[in-house]
Amino acid sequence: MPNTAPVSAADIVRALAAARQARSNAYAPYSNFKVGAAILTQDGQLITGCNVEIASWEEATCAERSAIASAVTQGVANERADFIKMVVVSTQAAKPNVPLTLISPCGACRQVISDFCSPLSCTVVMDDGHEGKVFGFDELLLHGFRYNQPISPLPRMSCQALEKTALLNPHTGNLLEVARAVKANAARQVQDLPEGAVIMTTDGRAFCGAGVENGCTALNMRALRVAAVRAVDAGAAKTSSAFITKAAIAVPSRGRNAQAALRQSINPALVAEFFSDDAEITVQIDENPPFTLRASDLFSWTNQAA
Ligand code: THU
Repeated sequence: MPNTAPVSAADIVRALAAARQARSNAYAPYSNFKVGAAILTQDGQLITGCNVEIASWEEATCAERSAIASAVTQGVANERADFIKMVVVSTQAAKPNVPLTLISPCGACRQVISDFCSPLSCTVVMDDGHEGKVFGFDELLLHGFRYNQPISPLPRMSCQALEKTALLNPHTGNLLEVARAVKANAARQVQDLPEGAVIMTTDGRAFCGAGVENGCTALNMRALRVAAVRAVDAGAAKTSSAFITKAAIAVPSRGRNAQAALRQSINPALVAEFFSDDAEITVQIDENPPFTLRASDLFSWTNQAA
């Protein structure tokens, strides 16, 4: 028997509406398949996400993982590691009664969900835009991989307050302070190497991102990607995909020298997709002096090719 006891019908209705709404912000120009997700946390919050693609394909973020990354950035994992009570995934409204295979969370998302839920008391709802079908998470992932360490949670930072601080004073030094502060919310239950980021967008908003570790490290999400994904979920990619005008990230060196860490802390494919060419990216590795580069610097070789 699936364990679907902890959520009420009213919770499902409200989460379905949120997931369907989130789908409208999906950035899926390559697959044209839009997905929205909503997570109901153990303390009753609804946090949404949509799928966010990049042209290099392999690092697209599914809607479910977008919602998890956003929840982590908002400090939900600081309160409890198994914060997911329910996940609703809503695919682009095609027609009623589409096959389950078209509305089912992918295997990678099941793996990431399992890091942040108690499998026996987590509900998954699959929605075709007309009707949600309810499952217990234990029906979806049997013997999921777990490789988590016990960690002592840090006090949760207010993501909203940090974003306000960034907006009020979007200068590099202040943005770095914000990026450093939001590290406290990162999910660090595997390597304990928290990252933080903040981005400014063309429509005049600021978005924080906190790193999300996963037992399967291939599914980790870096803080800069998380910030970009949260902005897309909030509609920032609606007018232009090059919506990031400035960014600051605070990352650990992971035992490498600062120069190697610097090279590896920015994903060029993500920058190519979402940054304006003249955007400044400031990086601080551990406590080393920060370093600023321009997004277009990453692609100086394309000028020769053109
Ligand atoms: N996608 C999701 O967002 N969630 C899933 O569980 C399945 C797939 C996205 C990824 C990609 O952007 C598009 O749907 C087509 O695979």
